[in-house]
Amino acid sequence: MEQTIYQRVIENMSAGVLVVGTDRRIQMGNSSIRAFLGLKDDITGKSLAEVFFEADGEKYDDLMDIMLDAILNDKINMRVPVEYELSGEPKHYLVSTYSIEMDSSRQFIVLIIEDITELSELRDALSAKQEIRRLNESLDRRDELIKKTYGQYLTDEHVDAILDGRSVEKAEDKKTLISLRGVVKEYGNGDHILRVLKGIDLDIYEHEFLVVLGESGCGKSTMMNIVGGMDFMTEGSLIVEGKDFSKPTEKELTAYRRNYIGFIFQSYNLMPNLTALENVRFIAEISQNPISPEEAIAKVGLSERAGNYPSEMSGGQQQRVSIARALVKNPTLIIADEPTAALDFSTSIEVLSVIEDVVRVQGKTVCMITHNEEIAKMADRVVRLKDGMVSAIRVNLHPLSAKELLW
Ligand SMILES: Nc1ncnc2c1ncn2[C@@H]1O[C@H](COP(=O)(O)OP(=O)(O)OP(=O)(O)O)[C@@H](O)[C@H]1O
Ligand SMILES: [Mg+2]
Repeated sequence: MEQTIYQRVIENMSAGVLVVGTDRRIQMGNSSIRAFLGLKDDITGKSLAEVFFEADGEKYDDLMDIMLDAILNDKINMRVPVEYELSGEPKHYLVSTYSIEMDSSRQFIVLIIEDITELSELRDALSAKQEIRRLNESLDRRDELIKKTYGQYLTDEHVDAILDGRSVEKAEDKKTLISLRGVVKEYGNGDHILRVLKGIDLDIYEHEFLVVLGESGCGKSTMMNIVGGMDFMTEGSLIVEGKDFSKPTEKELTAYRRNYIGFIFQSYNLMPNLTALENVRFIAEISQNPISPEEAIAKVGLSERAGNYPSEMSGGQQQRVSIARALVKNPTLIIADEPTAALDFSTSIEVLSVIEDVVRVQGKTVCMITHNEEIAKMADRVVRLKDGMVSAIRVNLHPLSAKELLW
């Protein structure tokens, strides 16, 4: 039997999961919720918090509203009773780290609790003060999450609330760079139509590191090729910095691709008869707003190798040249489609460190496709595709640095 996303999440997590249900689901009770999640009763050894909001008779049209209300107005104070499977006795825990997933039907929000501390243990601990300081820091991190989540699910009602000066407080301005709505991609014609993307809604924020995960064939490359202007969509819209690129002509698409997007591929696609610097310069010459090729080469740490031909460089170095080639255009978005799939572990880390620098230091926006769940830990957000649809979006509370990854 195929596992649900929740089962997979639960198997991988260290502490527990907090499930937030809609009004209707709240009536279901714990055991039905468990059945819904496919958890059955034989799951043992994991603490599982199934905590539901008291809707207080209020009507919520949208689960997002419940979620936002709960987080922003402190209805979840992260002191949740966790039913401890082994002892069978409910105890109180303080949740210190968590992240969020959403299912594609938008019926459920799952808060994945990554770190919890039992309060009674805390009190007894000699190092209680220190622990409390640590937990306070965790709560600060929770605020960071609220900022991220808030930007993501801002609805008209919340905008109204902000304008009216009501309780919803906008913590951070998050600029949407690229917006996909209802994107459908079909291949073939007549009787043989293959619907590869089935209605993708996705926002990409400025300066974020977005990772796209999903099984082979689910449509990752197809989606990013549309975002990158490599391909036309069948239906839907693509808005980039407020401009509509939903139905471009070939010419507009070429100009879009050239001026807005930097690509990094698994196979580096360098010109074999040009040196590293020439490979980069050649792209600078056809770009509208390039940075200097020398600067781009320096940004990936290859100044010493600028005169080498691709055949004289290692795979990691060649991939860094291709990153420089993406950077030199000074693009709005950099798309990396499995950039480390052909590299060994240490070379992958070397390349990922350069990509990390591109986002965190140089302030670029990067979308990276990967099959590697470990690499996804570097992202600000992880988008999962399944069968041509977005199946989950996860906000990473603590993106890891490339050097912290291990596989
Ligand atoms: N030009 C095409 N014509 C017909 N079908 C296509 C075309 N390009 C892609 N497809 C199909 O669309 C589906 C999604 O392909 P896509 O390359 O987007 O998958 P992916 O998620 O990137 O997979 P992988 O992880 O293997 O790279 C696949 O079933 C593929 O066979
Ligand atoms: Mg692909």
